[in-house]
Amino acid sequence: MIEKNEIYEVEVIDNGYQGEGIAKINSFPIFIQGAIAGEKIEIKILKVQSSFAYGKIMKIIRPAKTRVTPECKDYSKCGGCNLRHIEYNQTLEIKKAIVENCLYKSFGKELKVKNVIGMEKPMFYRNKLQYPLGIDKNNKPIMGIFANRSHNIIPIDKCYIQNETCEEIARYIFEYIKSSKISVYNEKTLKGTIRHIIVKIGIKTNDVLVTIVVNDNNFKEDKKFVEYLTSKFPNIKTIVKNYNMKNTNVILGNKNEIIYGDGYIYDILGEYKFKISSLSFYQVNPIQTEILYNTAMKYIKNDKNKIALDLYCGIGTIGIFASKYFKRVYGIEIVEEAIENAKENAKINNIKNIEFYAGDVEKVLPEILKKEGIYPNTIFVDPPRKGLDKNTSQLLNNLEAEQIIYISCNPATLARDLKILSEKYEIKEIQPVDMFPYTRTC
Ligand SMILES: C[S@@+](CC[C@H](N)C(=O)[O-])C[C@H]1O[C@@H](n2cnc3c(N)ncnc32)[C@H](O)[C@@H]1O
Repeated sequence: MIEKNEIYEVEVIDNGYQGEGIAKINSFPIFIQGAIAGEKIEIKILKVQSSFAYGKIMKIIRPAKTRVTPECKDYSKCGGCNLRHIEYNQTLEIKKAIVENCLYKSFGKELKVKNVIGMEKPMFYRNKLQYPLGIDKNNKPIMGIFANRSHNIIPIDKCYIQNETCEEIARYIFEYIKSSKISVYNEKTLKGTIRHIIVKIGIKTNDVLVTIVVNDNNFKEDKKFVEYLTSKFPNIKTIVKNYNMKNTNVILGNKNEIIYGDGYIYDILGEYKFKISSLSFYQVNPIQTEILYNTAMKYIKNDKNKIALDLYCGIGTIGIFASKYFKRVYGIEIVEEAIENAKENAKINNIKNIEFYAGDVEKVLPEILKKEGIYPNTIFVDPPRKGLDKNTSQLLNNLEAEQIIYISCNPATLARDLKILSEKYEIKEIQPVDMFPYTRTC
């Protein structure tokens, strides 16, 4: 019987879905944060549940060859990355194994998974920084990242996944806030002005959009602030004040006030230009996004007379990438603003053979197929983490299209959906792409 606070020496036999190490004591699984398969470690039991327990590393007796010292000094506290203690190539192996295991659970047999396409330089890849502000124990303003599973802000010295320009700008803004004695938000009292600093950069254009999320009307130094920021960083093209006065974990409120520029910037993905505003969604690792989309495009059976669907299309990026290979593309997305962005993106890129519809795929897809009288040849799906709903999987099966190109951000739901789709489709190739290096998210 395993008990809390007991100390054990264990062999780590695997790495789990979250990158955690897994050991067994008399067949009882123990999950250990920061442990790597192949290691011998001493652990302390933190918590015992009915079918597993959590342990904490006390001593590494025999480290894995792939263990490295993270360059980030805040790594152990921060909730941003969780695989930084492992050599990058090994993290790709772990992610591949996660996909293989999910498929095995769903199909009851091994399916071939290709090697994960990693990032050439897996550093400073995020094009969007969003740092919360708050106050520390001594009532001093702080800016940083929320600690793992908490709302405590850890002041970060240097983040190894954020774009360095975005970070430099955020620090410069924070200096201004401190020296101007502008108050920062206190989650306990719900008082204080500045809640978040958000900096987005178009990595190909180098244009920057700054959003200051405020909790009240007390940040009135617009002109001085704009001058302060743009004189130091001329690539800041627009600055927006966003009002979020609610007691909520959601970062952005609904009301925006543009205090400099047009309220948006552009970035380039492949040969296309995309408009980015403070409220619009845009992939946060554009280098890997380009690789992901180009990989998806490689699977298209090329014939210009064919029809494609881009289901769960967001701001239309996949459909726009695919448009040159098809006669017509139809995109569906539930968020109306994203569809507005998608339409605008098609216009900016002078793409005329694409149409976008706002609504739930489950409901809108059958309506469109009927209304337009179309038979889709290629169907792209890029659903949220929960995957496809049952009706949509069934409809895709009934359609018996020539091909489905399924882009997934969750191998567990991918494996479940593929099992259903395999009733009518043959699985040809499974190609993982590392979108968020050093983090648990596949
Ligand atoms: C993983 S994102 C993909 C976005 C886009 N394809 C891209 O590459 O940027 C999933 C998208 O599905 C949308 N979505 C979620 N549930 C939906 C539904 N039931 N019907 C249509 N779209 C949905 C989300 O708003 C989100 O934009």
